[in-house]
Amino acid sequence: MSGYILAIDQGTTSSRAIVFDGEMKIVATGQKEFTQLYPASGWVEHDPEEIWSSVVWSVRTALRKAKITASDIAAIGITNQRETVVIWDRATGAPIHNAIVWQDRRTAPLCARLKKQGLEPKFTKKTGLLLDPYFSGTKIAWMLDKVKGARRRAVKGELLAGTIDAFLIWRLTGGKVHATDATNASRTLVYNIEKNEWDAELLDLLDIPAAMLPEVKDCAADFGATETKLFGAAIPILGVAGDQHAATIGQACFEPGMMKSTYGTGCFAVLNTGDKLVRSRNKLLTTIAYRLDGKTTYALEGSIFIAGAAVQWLRDGIKVIGKAAQSGELAARADDAQNVYLVPAFVGLGAPHWDADARGAIFGLTRNTGPAEFARAALESVAYQTHDLLVAMKKDWKGGDAKTVLRVDGGMVASDWTMQRLADLLDAPVDRPTILETTALGAAWLAGQRAGVWPKAAKFAKSWALDRQFRPSMDDATRKAKLAGWADAVSRTLSKG
Ligand code: G3P
Repeated sequence: MSGYILAIDQGTTSSRAIVFDGEMKIVATGQKEFTQLYPASGWVEHDPEEIWSSVVWSVRTALRKAKITASDIAAIGITNQRETVVIWDRATGAPIHNAIVWQDRRTAPLCARLKKQGLEPKFTKKTGLLLDPYFSGTKIAWMLDKVKGARRRAVKGELLAGTIDAFLIWRLTGGKVHATDATNASRTLVYNIEKNEWDAELLDLLDIPAAMLPEVKDCAADFGATETKLFGAAIPILGVAGDQHAATIGQACFEPGMMKSTYGTGCFAVLNTGDKLVRSRNKLLTTIAYRLDGKTTYALEGSIFIAGAAVQWLRDGIKVIGKAAQSGELAARADDAQNVYLVPAFVGLGAPHWDADARGAIFGLTRNTGPAEFARAALESVAYQTHDLLVAMKKDWKGGDAKTVLRVDGGMVASDWTMQRLADLLDAPVDRPTILETTALGAAWLAGQRAGVWPKAAKFAKSWALDRQFRPSMDDATRKAKLAGWADAVSRTLSKG
């Protein structure tokens, strides 16, 4: 056995496999994008078979590029897009429907019905979440309702459900293990985060048979081993966490008050609140940051659905840039005299508004408005939304220093312009680490330390290194005027606004 660790990062738009060496350095990566399916307005699906083949392809590619074999890998850590859910046949492993993706809004009517029955406080108290279509529970209920015979088969134990991690574990272990970890479970709307168990009452309300759900384990635990025929050797799976939780770990946010914000497809700010389950009064989520050695660490989370996806829209939708990396340069050329605001409610708005019916809008167009102003508005929308999350967090989190430093990661943070604008609009410093692959690093750390080849938390935290700190430099009057313009644009975008 050797000291390499493999992270599988199954994201919203691509699957990646990253080989790390014993020194926690990246050796090789395999990555494959897969198809986004939009069968109706506000619906987003993935083909689970395409997800599976992209994962297998990425692992094989990363091993080949690293010039190692499966037996050189000490352990695998899995991290994944959260909430996205699959139901499959226990006997054949075949999915009964496409995966319904976290961004999918089809269960908005069911959520509205449950809210009308006054059930939201019950769901929130037990799960820390809100009755929004974002979470897995109503998506499972939808499939059980719509796929012929599904509920009857689920009751008989013929069908299994799970978030993407559970589906991958099932496939990787050749159907031997049906398990998930506490962080992924905490996003389903049917997991009691205080008691750390599936909640019978909530399952009943959504009519989901408990028999179809996976066993919930710690983030670092024994999740079985890969079937030998897949990669040439059985590799133990020793770490699992939802991607935002893995990034929190990868950013070494192990102390209460530490916060990270990841700019991937969406943006997710996670504040470690320690062993304290902090209830939000400002529409943030209470969630499980991670569970290690049976000990649960909680977090407050602000979830924004569109961040990097706004840059993708600049590139693929309105085609004002050829490559995502050009967005910062273009934004820097925008005319300061124009106040253009983009509210990217392409799939509704997440925290702190939770408006599933809102749709994107742009304000302040003049005859001079061109690609540069669109690019600036798209990048600034991400900073404004982060600002709104942080305002809510400061109100909810009394335990900490209001000047908590923000550690950032994800594709968008490579842009200096965007990070400077973020610091300016937050009026707070923004810390960018040297390793931007924090999600994969977090998953690899879970597996690596469990396998005994990587250091434990304290030593790992010391290896976190700063690349650059962005300090606020915008004058107060400009910042306030811009924030007021944003607040006005949002209020005009809300579906009930
Ligand atoms: O909750 C959804 C989240 O896990 C997706 O993350 O990296 O695809 O934006 P990402």
